[in-house]
Amino acid sequence: SGAITIDPGFKNTGSTKSEITYLDGENGILRYRGYSIEDLAEKSNFLEVTYLLIHGELPTKAQYDEFTGSIQNHTMIHEDMRKILEGFPSNSHPMGVLSSLVCSMTAFYPESLDPNRSWEKVNMSIVRILAKLPTMAAWAYKNEQGHPVNYPDNSLNYTENFLKMMFAVPAEDFEVDPVVADALDKLLILHADHEQNCSASTVRIVGSSHASLYASISAGINALWGPLHGGANQAVIEMLENIKADGGDVEKYIKKAKDKNDPFRLMGFGHRVYKNFDPRAKIIKKAADDVLGRLGINDPVLDIAKKLEEVALKDEYFVEKKLYPNVDFYSGIIYRALGIPTKMFTVMFAMGRLPGWIAQWKEMRENQEPIGRPRQIYTGHNQRDYVDIKKR
Ligand code: CMC
Repeated sequence: SGAITIDPGFKNTGSTKSEITYLDGENGILRYRGYSIEDLAEKSNFLEVTYLLIHGELPTKAQYDEFTGSIQNHTMIHEDMRKILEGFPSNSHPMGVLSSLVCSMTAFYPESLDPNRSWEKVNMSIVRILAKLPTMAAWAYKNEQGHPVNYPDNSLNYTENFLKMMFAVPAEDFEVDPVVADALDKLLILHADHEQNCSASTVRIVGSSHASLYASISAGINALWGPLHGGANQAVIEMLENIKADGGDVEKYIKKAKDKNDPFRLMGFGHRVYKNFDPRAKIIKKAADDVLGRLGINDPVLDIAKKLEEVALKDEYFVEKKLYPNVDFYSGIIYRALGIPTKMFTVMFAMGRLPGWIAQWKEMRENQEPIGRPRQIYTGHNQRDYVDIKKR
């Protein structure tokens, strides 16, 4: 009780204390469990970062081997889940397919529904979803293509296995390009957690009702899908392609973005917390140059992106509102160069963010946080008498 304060979008409301991710928006600092993302992106790998986020410490060699080994052992998904996949129209957006398949894990692993199961069993649920998400993600793409699925290859590492399930054609040799695998691994690290963002808050609030890990993550995937959140990476490339098709006049689009009567926003610009620069965008911009160079790709869309950034950063509107390129601005350009189709971009984000969602869910349960239940200020009618339908 007491006075209720309304804070639309929770701009100034903290929902929890957390030990997972440190974010300083003024100074563009992002750290997972105290380690800077610059360091992790350069020196670590995605599964090590996953372990760090979920368990709080970098693994010893033995812990790492056990963790990655158990993930490798659970990459297969139940054949009946493939039948669920086959029920989706081809052309379904892979994000909708992915969240549905993740939710269907509640049926294949019903022990995950028990909120009081041991932490050992919770860890098994965690390993299962980490292992199976790349399989489900690649299969969601195959469904969209109308192609048969590829089964996991457990001789490969996490990223390589995903690429093979995405791109291998039966009866043809498939070699994973190490430049592609490394770039993807780095992107996944940069997306791995971002404290109490929309999807992580969703995962925590769904989980706060003691709904299962899989149901909570499925909800997180749906929250990520929107164009103001993870869906921005798809929207950015579509916007850049439109600008290119429209003659490459970036000024025209900057003008549109500033016009308050036009709903158009510059996708990939602005952030709720970063008001100087997004440290992830900085690393990704450099990586985009590097990856395109190493793959020998010349993408005119990259030139449009750079021009757009240059003009926007000098524009009074963007300067005043502190709108800078965010993580999604350059990531799509790398995904394109790696051969990942546009509709899969947000799925890539989901694969990267999975360890963060798991860590947030686990922390919330370990701390025995109460059910999330915000209040409101009612602004509707006072009491009214029911009127019979014939008299309305
Ligand atoms: N283009 C033009 N104007 C913008 C933009 C943009 N991209 N972003 C914010 N503004 C304006 C907005 O119109 C508002 O103006 P005013 O104060 O005159 O009403 C002001 O800047 C503040 O914006 P806001 O919407 O109140 O800020 P927010 O913190 O609620 O929203 C955001 C943050 C990321 C949703 C928003 O900047 C946006 O819509 N950006 C484009 C979508 C995007 O790139 N999303 C990815 C975010 S990073 C990765 C992730 O979260 O998944």
